[in-house]
Amino acid sequence: IFFLNKSTIFCRHYSHSSILNILKTAPLGQQISVQGWIKSLRKQKELTFIEINDGSTCKNLQITLPSNLSKNITVGASISSKGLVKQSPKGQLEISAEDFTLIGECDISKGYPFAPRKQYEPEYVRENMHFRPRTRLFSSVLRIRHAATLEIHNYLDSIGYFNIHTPLITSNDCEGAGETFKIEPDSEKLLKSMAKENQPLHSAYFNKKAYLTVSGQLHLETVAQALNKVYCFAPTFRAENSKSRFHLSEFYMLELEQAFLNNLDDLLKVAEDLVKHVIKALLDRHLDDLQVCTNGKIDHLLINKPFIRISYLEAQQILSTKLNKSSLKGIGKEHELALTNYFEGVPVFVINWPENLKAFYMKQIPENNVAAFDLLASGVGEIAGGSLREDNFEKLKSRLPINNSEFDWYLDLRKFGYVPTGGFGLGFERFVQFILGIENIKDCIPFPRWPHNCKL
Ligand code: 4AD
Repeated sequence: IFFLNKSTIFCRHYSHSSILNILKTAPLGQQISVQGWIKSLRKQKELTFIEINDGSTCKNLQITLPSNLSKNITVGASISSKGLVKQSPKGQLEISAEDFTLIGECDISKGYPFAPRKQYEPEYVRENMHFRPRTRLFSSVLRIRHAATLEIHNYLDSIGYFNIHTPLITSNDCEGAGETFKIEPDSEKLLKSMAKENQPLHSAYFNKKAYLTVSGQLHLETVAQALNKVYCFAPTFRAENSKSRFHLSEFYMLELEQAFLNNLDDLLKVAEDLVKHVIKALLDRHLDDLQVCTNGKIDHLLINKPFIRISYLEAQQILSTKLNKSSLKGIGKEHELALTNYFEGVPVFVINWPENLKAFYMKQIPENNVAAFDLLASGVGEIAGGSLREDNFEKLKSRLPINNSEFDWYLDLRKFGYVPTGGFGLGFERFVQFILGIENIKDCIPFPRWPHNCKL
């Protein structure tokens, strides 16, 4: 009997499981091993109550441990532990642990920036960027980013779009706004060895100036002429001197392009369906993280109505007659926010813009307008922008930046078997900012870059 008991103890099998799986599927009485970071700690005479999180969900798992074993543990430390799944008096699953292993200690007095049970301002959390993923809010933001990314890929795949890897190093400024970052090797020695006679040193590597891309659109347009429905979802870079809560120097953009497209309405439909699909999927499958990020305020996501569609002219009329905010120079951020408020939070497409306010590649339509749109969302303003592309060779040529041979290949597309295309770019961080109702876009991306800030 002694032998049998002993072997039972030694052979006890603990299956390892993530907290997400334990909370979903672990049956009472199952032996489980878990690992994670301690989020809270309550020591009582007999038992210590530890809440751990392993990153798989925003929910913590409670572990009870005999207090005589829990001397060296603190909030923030990482541990592994094993025990039996049981039900707490409040009816929640918890682990009754027999033991634990301290993986990494966390002595807050040695400079760890976050104390237990304290709320911090986003600016303070941002200053401690390397520890920011450990906060409850930011880890939820990261899981939502992941889920939204997957939903974008899934949705576009389901309606026949191909993911194209457009280059990050380019030789053109697609938007023509002069917001490019120039790139060149850091080694002057290398540049000197590569430079040809009479060639400026800064263009020695590629024989021309090269930039980090501001948009994958022009490359996507080339592929749309062969694969029809294409998209890219990649980092883009803008050298804007803006520290505003809506601007980043590096952000992710979902851009799509579709051939055989003659009608702006068809493009608006793709944008609206995509936005609605992602939001619905998040509400259906990631409500816990959404609740954490939005503080439970998800009303703005329950968009059952069709998005509003107004022309630029109508937008200006509403701004001047109804909102007392007339503007001669386009529609600024203040106007964008006022318009979405006016339409009670329903996203707004502003279409048919004056051509002098928009990029050279947009299709001209009567009255000096272009067939373009901006999509405005509550609390953030513009989250996406797109257009039909100019298909007329001469018109396009006349609108190109002067003496710019960089666009020869782009013009060439129009000469050979060209079909009209249209597309748009959705700023991913602005989209996330809108979904989560987050004040500052810098809190929607793992490692934000903005002027004078390139931490980590
Ligand atoms: O309106 P933009 O400049 O459009 C383009 O780049 C087109 N080439 C897209 C296309 O048609 N394929 O940028 C598109 C979106 C904006 O609506 C905004 O959401 C986001 O990109 N965006 C920024 N997001 C964060 N920080 C910045 N500095 C941004 N600039 C633009």
